[in-house]
Amino acid sequence: MTKAAKKLIEVALPLKAINEASAREKSIRHGHPSTLHLWWARRPLAAARAVIFSQMVDDPSAHPDIFKTEKAQEKERQRLFRIIEDLVQWENTTNEKVLQQARDEIWQSWRYTCAENADHPRAKELFDRHKLPAFHDPFAGGGALPLEAQRLGLESYASDLNPVAVLICKAMIEIPPKFAGRPPVGPIPKDEKQNEMPREWPGATGLAEDVRRYGQWMRDEAEKRIGHLYPQIEITPEMTKERPDLQKYAGKKLTVIAWLWARTVKSPNPAFANVDVPLVSTFMLSTKRGKEAYVEPVIENGGYRFTVKVGKPKDSAASKSGTKLSRGANFQCLMSNTPIASDHIYGEANAGRMSARLMAIVAEGERERLYLAPATAHGYCCRG
Ligand SMILES: C[S@@+](CC[C@H](N)C(=O)[O-])C[C@H]1O[C@@H](n2cnc3c(N)ncnc32)[C@H](O)[C@@H]1O
Repeated sequence: MTKAAKKLIEVALPLKAINEASAREKSIRHGHPSTLHLWWARRPLAAARAVIFSQMVDDPSAHPDIFKTEKAQEKERQRLFRIIEDLVQWENTTNEKVLQQARDEIWQSWRYTCAENADHPRAKELFDRHKLPAFHDPFAGGGALPLEAQRLGLESYASDLNPVAVLICKAMIEIPPKFAGRPPVGPIPKDEKQNEMPREWPGATGLAEDVRRYGQWMRDEAEKRIGHLYPQIEITPEMTKERPDLQKYAGKKLTVIAWLWARTVKSPNPAFANVDVPLVSTFMLSTKRGKEAYVEPVIENGGYRFTVKVGKPKDSAASKSGTKLSRGANFQCLMSNTPIASDHIYGEANAGRMSARLMAIVAEGERERLYLAPATAHGYCCRG
């Protein structure tokens, strides 16, 4: 029979410190696995680290020969709590001194366990004092537990039903250790200085540098091949007249990051049969609080043009629903409000008469997106 000493987690934990560190982690945006890929039900790393540590480390009451009184046991428990309190801090995630202290405690408890089980029939295989037991999380999800087990020195295995979770775990737990301590090999971006001095690449820093370099390479290649489709757009004084949000960009050239097109069909209303009317399921461009922007079509000269407004629309229901009438392909003519049945749309599309018209331009501002109206003056008018 296996002899298992009482573990720290069965007696007490410094919950306040663990909870606070776990809550703080939610606002960490740089270097946290949550920024690798979104995963629901991701467990905080702090909680995962604390739980694995306290499952592996004996409670002092399991060793009455060493900690003879309750007072002595409590004193030792408090010492282990201090280790956990340090261990759960985000800043200590890669602090080797703090991690090594935790790993030493795990090894010490493991050696006690091996000694206790020396007469176990499979002791050689199961209780090797030179080899910690491996860790397996069969429902690993975003991989918080196997990652922390690995950090605490355990051989880590992860599996999951969902291939996305498997990919996250591979990227986080399986691949980085293979490149641990290795220098990057990717091409140094041309605008960056070549550093001739040899340097150390501890842990996954070499791999991370390669990811950054190849990311830059992909960006440069994309710019070479399709950059001409995203020219810069100058913010003219005329454009800023009705748009106070554009004033600080007056005279500046901004990079276009997206063209927003509306599909069009000929109006089913005979009075506007020559007008390509838009099929738009919403005129809202941004619903972010304080950053609202929307398209306002202006009907004039027997046709229409699109303008872009910032702030909340006067008729928010109308802006929200665009030219859409109900579920499915049911729209209405922008010029006459005549319903556009799905049959008309399919008929126009099958006859090759469906077209598209530029509705808005998205440009890159200073840490914000700017929505601009298409203007013939900029040469970005319409197709079809
Ligand atoms: C609560 S999540 C785990 C969260 C994880 N501890 C973390 O920190 O991200 C549960 C996981 O179990 C996986 N799962 C559910 N049923 C499963 C099954 N039968 N076999 C393997 N994985 C399963 C789900 O895909 C999900 O990723």
